[in-house]
Amino acid sequence: MILPIVAFGTPVLKKKAKNIKNDHEGLKELIGNMWETMYNAKGVGLAAPQIGKRIRIFLIDTIQLEEEESELKEGVKQVFINAEILEEEGESWLYEEGCLSIPHIRGDVERLPNITIKYFDEDFVEHTKKFEGINARVIQHEYDHIEGILFTTKLKPLKRRLIKRKLEAIKKGSVKVDYRMRFPE
Ligand code: NI
Repeated sequence: MILPIVAFGTPVLKKKAKNIKNDHEGLKELIGNMWETMYNAKGVGLAAPQIGKRIRIFLIDTIQLEEEESELKEGVKQVFINAEILEEEGESWLYEEGCLSIPHIRGDVERLPNITIKYFDEDFVEHTKKFEGINARVIQHEYDHIEGILFTTKLKPLKRRLIKRKLEAIKKGSVKVDYRMRFPE
């Protein structure tokens, strides 16, 4: 089932999400719905707060980017539950990010290229893995969502001023999107 994606201005997007237990009710179905919702919106990642749930789940599929991103050797399709970034290293780099909750706004965000992350997969098996480049980038963006952080807060001050009106318009629902969205009341 395709779920509505909550828009910028919805309080859940600014709250730190909570860990779930391995017997979390309806987890399988929720994950299935999140994949469906992400692909329907042509996204490469989606976090539970974006569908209005304050829990620490996100999923990414960067395999979709293998053709357009020449420096991406191997994409990753993975669910991350109760994730914790243990380390971020390397020389910071800029990359233009966007977000399904903030349609039609893109901007350069500075992040470190190498991460070590601990997480549980959809079968609640624990992993600690390293990711780099675009894979790390998408994970960091989604991880920020479960920490209640939006990429727009990481843009340069000038850029932030330039998008202020557009953000206000999104809050009010005056934006055109070709996927299901829910705007703040
Ligand atoms: Ni996002």
